[in-house]
Amino acid sequence: MSSPNRITSGFNVSTPKSTETSLDTIVALAKRRGFIFQGSEIYGGLAGTWDYGHYGLILKRNIMRLWWKMFVEDRDDMFGVDAAILMNQKVWQASGHVATFVDPMVEDLLTHQRYRADHLLKEKGFSVDGLNLLGMTKLIREHNVKSPDGNALSDAQTFNMMFKTVVGPKYTSLDRKTSGGLSGRIEFLNGKNRELAFDVNDEFSELGGFMIYDTQSISYLRPETAQGIFTNFKNIVDTMHPELPFGIAQQGKAFRNEIRPRDFIFRAREFEQMEIEYFVHPDEWQSSFEKWIELTHKWCEAIGLPKSSVHELEVSDSDRAHYSKRTVDFEFDFPIGREELSGLAYRTSFDLDNIARESKQRIEYVPRDGGKPFIPHVIEPSFGVERAFMAVLTSAYHEEKVGEDDTRVVLKFKPELAPVKLAVSPLLRNKPELVSKAREVYAAMKKKYGNVMYDDNGNIGKRYRRQDEIGTPLCLVIDFETLTDEAVTVRHRDTMEQTRVKISDLTTEIDKLLEAF
Ligand code: GAP
Repeated sequence: MSSPNRITSGFNVSTPKSTETSLDTIVALAKRRGFIFQGSEIYGGLAGTWDYGHYGLILKRNIMRLWWKMFVEDRDDMFGVDAAILMNQKVWQASGHVATFVDPMVEDLLTHQRYRADHLLKEKGFSVDGLNLLGMTKLIREHNVKSPDGNALSDAQTFNMMFKTVVGPKYTSLDRKTSGGLSGRIEFLNGKNRELAFDVNDEFSELGGFMIYDTQSISYLRPETAQGIFTNFKNIVDTMHPELPFGIAQQGKAFRNEIRPRDFIFRAREFEQMEIEYFVHPDEWQSSFEKWIELTHKWCEAIGLPKSSVHELEVSDSDRAHYSKRTVDFEFDFPIGREELSGLAYRTSFDLDNIARESKQRIEYVPRDGGKPFIPHVIEPSFGVERAFMAVLTSAYHEEKVGEDDTRVVLKFKPELAPVKLAVSPLLRNKPELVSKAREVYAAMKKKYGNVMYDDNGNIGKRYRRQDEIGTPLCLVIDFETLTDEAVTVRHRDTMEQTRVKISDLTTEIDKLLEAF
């Protein structure tokens, strides 16, 4: 579980690969079939950012929708919020993020490339479990650990991962002058503008410029959605009058200025989270925690992850975030090895206590039976959408031998996650009578199932392969016989079996087939 105070916590380091599918295979498929592209690719990319293409965004939304249905809609004790990404800087001061949301970093003293200290050490075969900055520096010095380019390394230091920004026009920048100095202008509305200029000595000659801003205007792109929940606790209690235990859920973007984003979407600088803060009576945290362990496994099953690939890791005292009294990480056998998929933490009343103290407001739950008001404790199941996406894609990916020397790639998604539920095709695209019938069937299917694709590109064999690669559960083909027997061929993605189904029975049969996947 990565979190504030993470110098000794949440270091996700690749362990040996335990699944057959390589990351390169997944990345290549994701690009080839329009799931995910490198962010800003046309300009050479921007590290740690990814763009979702048509099928990718539908898959992502399907994952998020299923999560919302399972954890919010299907329950009576859950409420939603959608908080602003930019929040008052006090949120991040009170939560501890300004002071301690850091990762350990080292610098190549020659190239000035920067690396995650723990990742580098782990890759060189050292164990970093529970090590703080001093411990890492000691390892580097004692074993003369070098950078990947073979150069000496700096001591390990902390790097705060929050993206800082300035809200409103309360800043100015000083740009480099050709003469080597820095100059800029601060414009005050009373007309007393100030020109600023600095000479810079050789030591700073590489600097591009400076930014001057009003410190009161600083904000951050949120590094977790959780704080948007905690800061709305009082609003939800005052407007929804929930009875304890209850949860508040939020899905949305989070941003972390990762020192080295890597492993495709696994470690990105911009990603999405699905988080729940589940408020309980302090005496009941243990039973609630156990229930959330069970529910997390159910979620993994619902998105099609094999039980054998999901593992619980009881996070040790030294590796836990400062707010957590117990953390269980759920790890998955990714192509890069066994890594954190999601986390479950017992955050006690840490966050609500901080907010009450800093905001000077009463943040309490008043029992309906007239009992004494108290600050509830919190169990936090926290899921990353990108990691769920990557786990779903990895689990769904299959290469199967078909025939003597042919192989097909098939994504065996659960039907509720598949970006395309059904594909409808005329056997031949240049036969108007087939096209007209196929369009008729397509329109009826689209009305009922939504994400249905009309596919007449290439021959039927190629269409099946393409649909297999995007994970379409069923393909319907309209052929010449359809014109006389009012039946279509239904081809099953996983078994590749083909059956004839009367158009009048189609939806009943499709429902049955989808249910049985
Ligand atoms: N509110 C608690 C929290 O944010 P976390 O362990 O730091 O805990 C929760 O993050 C989840 O967010 C992780 O389990 C992971 O799925 C996802 N996550 C964290 N950092 C990420 C990154 N750089 N790229 C993609 N997903 C990330």
